[in-house]
Amino acid sequence: MNAQTQPSFPPSEDTVSRAHIDARGYADMYAASISDPDGFWAEHGKRVDWIKPFSKVKNTSFEPGNIDIQWFEDGTLNVSANCIDRHLETRGDQTAIIWEPDDPSTQDAKHITYRELHSSVCKMANVLEELGIRKGDRVVIYLPMIPEAAYAMLACARIGAIHSIVFAGFSPDALGARVNGCDAKLVITADYAPRGGRETPLKSNTDAALLHCKDSVKCLVVKRTGGQTTWTDRDYDYGEMMLEASDYCAPAEMSAEDPLFILYTSGSTGQPKGVVHTSGGYLVYAAMTHEYVFDYHDGDVFWCTADVGWVTGHSYIVYGPLANGATTIMFEGVPTYPDAGRFWEVCAKHKVNQFYTAPTAIRALMGAGNDWVEKHDLSNLRLLGSVGEPINPEAWTWYNDVVGKGNCPIVDTFWQTETGGHMLTPLPGATTLKPGAAQQPFFGVQPVVLDPQSGVEIDGNGIEGVLCMRDSWPGQMRTVWGDHERFEKTYFSDYKGYYFSGDGCRRDEDGDYWITGRVDDVINVSGHRMGTAEVESALVAHAKVAEAAVVGYPHDVKGQGIYAYVTLMGSEAPSDELRKELEVWVRTEIGPIAKPDLIQWAPGLPKTRSGKIMRRILRKIAEDDFGSLGDTSTLADPSVVDDLIDNRMNRR
Ligand code: WTA
Repeated sequence: MNAQTQPSFPPSEDTVSRAHIDARGYADMYAASISDPDGFWAEHGKRVDWIKPFSKVKNTSFEPGNIDIQWFEDGTLNVSANCIDRHLETRGDQTAIIWEPDDPSTQDAKHITYRELHSSVCKMANVLEELGIRKGDRVVIYLPMIPEAAYAMLACARIGAIHSIVFAGFSPDALGARVNGCDAKLVITADYAPRGGRETPLKSNTDAALLHCKDSVKCLVVKRTGGQTTWTDRDYDYGEMMLEASDYCAPAEMSAEDPLFILYTSGSTGQPKGVVHTSGGYLVYAAMTHEYVFDYHDGDVFWCTADVGWVTGHSYIVYGPLANGATTIMFEGVPTYPDAGRFWEVCAKHKVNQFYTAPTAIRALMGAGNDWVEKHDLSNLRLLGSVGEPINPEAWTWYNDVVGKGNCPIVDTFWQTETGGHMLTPLPGATTLKPGAAQQPFFGVQPVVLDPQSGVEIDGNGIEGVLCMRDSWPGQMRTVWGDHERFEKTYFSDYKGYYFSGDGCRRDEDGDYWITGRVDDVINVSGHRMGTAEVESALVAHAKVAEAAVVGYPHDVKGQGIYAYVTLMGSEAPSDELRKELEVWVRTEIGPIAKPDLIQWAPGLPKTRSGKIMRRILRKIAEDDFGSLGDTSTLADPSVVDDLIDNRMNRR
């Protein structure tokens, strides 16, 4: 579609008059952020409270061999004090966190004020200290979406420990690998994680994981359901320790560049890598994007439906909103439990003003019908957000018409675990919206589109290529935990002098950006990012599997589904039971989110003569697009392709 014919939605007068920034303001501020980054960020760096103010602002290099990113480097601060203590005087009795339980029929929502948050976080920080946790130590958090997850994050930040959250849907193996990966001293978990009416046994998962970790690793257990668990010598009872703990803990003075957290994420090769974010720049960026992109105003109720196990939960449930003194919702459940009206019921109940979710949820709820939305009062909604994958125009339109009643701007925010906060996004009072476009760079962000082969910047509009960033922004990741070389290799070596996002992108005739999806072997399943290599290595770890190749294919609800080609050991015969067995196997190796949707038995895989699997061909077959396979003559054995086509799986 060209720029002239595509639908577009200018901001309403109402939106513009309320918004922090209008079109003119955006243009001026953006220009200032690029022409004078030091001046711009010196000013906006003041939005956080510094113990010792910074005198240096930006000190960054994307130069090969010397990738070095520092912001506000000589300033000191405490992130937890910024998210809590500094609000006590003005909004101590305001709700900081509204917690909404999985099952609304058995439990009420909790409203936690800033003062209460302060007390719980201080106590938990003292508990951590009592367990021997010190500045710089790593703490793994493996919790359901309960307030204690936020307390744990902020308690780590308070004493200068580095947290690494592992999504509660991950298996014991994945948890163990992450505990070992950052050499954590402590795992904080719960007995069970209720979700969608079911309970995941987190404590027993943790016990299984810790069998493969050092004996010295301790385990702090929160009782969420009170269900039965086994107890070992390494376990400590959170409830009991909190009773004894003092409710004051002085915030540690941290350098702006001290790590705040590690978050493991998938890449195109190897095992997940530990993305490291530091304190000052990250907080400035998370808070600033939260305020401007969602047009957050004092007193608003903000709801991001993500899990704190993902970066979206870090930046837009906890750090960004709390740094801004906001009221943020933490939701334990799922969109369809007890019924498909749950999101809208919660929006009505808590008078939500800004609602931020993923396209996969929007598509699933769109499929459930409009009645579920219409029976709830959504009159407080002012803005809607989308994140995690490209949003298709049908889902955008439904979100706009049925949920937003045509009155709520939609911000389609493109960003990554690595970027800390939004990179490309509309601003509600400034941007004429186009369904499906991430549109414009946030302040300080310099997107460029490169030719994938030559790596040369493509100028002008109406063009397509790979998306890179020309320069640094304060929320950028600083390194891969324990492997700075991998950091450089992954993000700065394909296109020298730039940060490479891994995404393809189009810049339309108006200069707006459209993300076209990953150009590497990362797939995006229900907004969860996964490396195909991880699923493959789980599959080949099964004794009956000789070889496996995994690709994504278009899926109506999940965005992408997981399509696995599996070659069995010579003595094994394919069967439906074996297919089930492999599905269960991958669930236990990684977690339910990695379970293949389709498994095709492949007597052989298409390989080049040097033995490299031709994924392009496998992708085409999985997409049912085998009319355009391209040149297959370089394959070692071209006949395997015919077999794969003949026996391809039905995607419906
Ligand atoms: C994809 C999630 C299109 C993209 C915050 C990126 C998107 C990956 C969008 C990062 C969007 C995220 N439009 N694609 N609005 N947002 N993506 O690290 O492929 O879990 O590289 O961070 O999600 O996923 P991650």
